[in-house]
Amino acid sequence: MARDYREIAQRIEAVAAGETDAIALMATVACELFHGIEDFDWVGFYRVTAPGMLKIGPYQGGHGCLVIPFERGVCGAAAREGRTQVVADVDAFPGHIACAASTRSEIVVPVRDASGALIAVLDIDSDTPAAFDATDAAALEALVRRVFAGGVSRP
Ligand code: SME
Repeated sequence: MARDYREIAQRIEAVAAGETDAIALMATVACELFHGIEDFDWVGFYRVTAPGMLKIGPYQGGHGCLVIPFERGVCGAAAREGRTQVVADVDAFPGHIACAASTRSEIVVPVRDASGALIAVLDIDSDTPAAFDATDAAALEALVRRVFAGGVSRP
């Protein structure tokens, strides 16, 4: 499904230009993606807060579980492997953590800082089956790279 991420990236730049605080940036990205794309039903970050441990960060949507160890769920797999996970059918993913029974598919993208250290994962859930593909993965990877590793440019 082709989506236009350019407009969203432009809005993020307009709101967050010059901002370097990771939480402020995560809040802005979660808000713009959630409100900008209709079938994104949960958008949020899980932050690396201890070795092998993810904790909930800024998000939009229904409640998310607070803590996810690297061994668990789609988020854990993305953090552990350092690679984007595209899950067309969450019921077919062993160990998927169901925060909302309505979730059918999801994508989780690793988030790194300028030094290359993993600081978080971006988790997007959809109530639509197979809502994400390689185009989404590439666009979201570029977005988080620009925002969290490149610095949002000043106007
Ligand atoms: N999607 C996650 C769990 C977090 S909630 O869906 C917000 C997973 O299985 O990693």
